Amino acid sequence: MYEIKVERTAAPKAKPADESKLGFGTIFTDHMLIMNYDKGQGWHSARIVPYGPIPMEPSAMCLHYGQEIFEGLKAYRGDDGGVYLFRPQENFKRLNASCERMCIPPLDEELLLESLKQLVELDRDWIPHAKDSSLYIRPFIIATEPKLGVKPSDSYLYMVLLSPSGPYYPTGLDPVKIYVEQSYVRAVRGGIGMAKTGGNYAASLKAQDEAHGQNYSQVLWLDGVERKYIEEVGAMNMFFVIGDEVVTPALSGSILPGITRKSVLELLRSWGLNAVERRLSIDEVVEAYRSGKLAEAFGTGTAAVISPVGELKYDSLVMTIGGGRIGPVSQRLYDTLTAIQWGRAEDPFGWRVRVC
Ligand code: PLP
Ligand code: COI
Repeated sequence: MYEIKVERTAAPKAKPADESKLGFGTIFTDHMLIMNYDKGQGWHSARIVPYGPIPMEPSAMCLHYGQEIFEGLKAYRGDDGGVYLFRPQENFKRLNASCERMCIPPLDEELLLESLKQLVELDRDWIPHAKDSSLYIRPFIIATEPKLGVKPSDSYLYMVLLSPSGPYYPTGLDPVKIYVEQSYVRAVRGGIGMAKTGGNYAASLKAQDEAHGQNYSQVLWLDGVERKYIEEVGAMNMFFVIGDEVVTPALSGSILPGITRKSVLELLRSWGLNAVERRLSIDEVVEAYRSGKLAEAFGTGTAAVISPVGELKYDSLVMTIGGGRIGPVSQRLYDTLTAIQWGRAEDPFGWRVRVC
């Protein structure tokens, strides 16, 4: 057992009155988790405290050079009254992989899981009841050493915030419109694309802004070298149903190894479908569209769950996929994944972790 000090809030906040208007990531619960790292001491002093501002030096290194990483997972209120996490060990494994890339000292994954369970249990009344809503969990680490030299920091903060949230896309399961980005790139092999670190998201803002201006919700990134191969979308990995294959770009080092992606591959294969990880060019997608072989496209992510893509724009070509409606593979994946997450179905893969 790990010793985690708990300071309860003396002033609990009112919970959201209307759960249909939660939005995504704007409301925070009563408590947060915090832990420090100091050179010579290692990670220490894990504690749960009331949610609130943190004191920080303006010279803290994360503010200048972006040495930070984060994760995203959810706690679900099960129909049986239980509270569940979905494959949290995978998030903590990826957190340490991001740390490794960003020169942040690794953390004890068992401590991370144990402390998260305690935090979620303490704030369990904040988990929303409304359909498709959950408690979004945001673990993150920032470099706090007060210094302007460029080097790995000697001190860090690990924190976890909890946010009762509705669907990431306001349109829910309705197909989204996506625009294939041709001018900007997000990441290159050898860069930081495989790490969940703020710089990747900062790099995406300009393109996303321009896509919004054209009434598209997100951009689909192409590889940064040949500008030809499909990578991923802002907050999700991509899958295409082409003929008898369900194709997703292989993990090349420049895209995030999504946990929903991994789960979807395992589900598809367990159904006997031909799920393939390989290079997929935008030209191949266009050709499949033109020959009538492109049946479905969908994104996968913790926040986005399964998001069907109804329209994909590449250059001047506007491709309407599956008649702009959700297809059978996407629907089956959505139904199966959410049933496992909310504890409504058997969990044959052992993905659910019960908190309380
Ligand atoms: N790709 C990016 C860039 C993301 O931010 C996310 C979200 O976490 C994903 C993919 C999907 O990953 P996961 O399924 O682990 O949430
Ligand atoms: C997630 O799906 O957890 C994400 O991190 C998406 C986020 C960038 C909003």
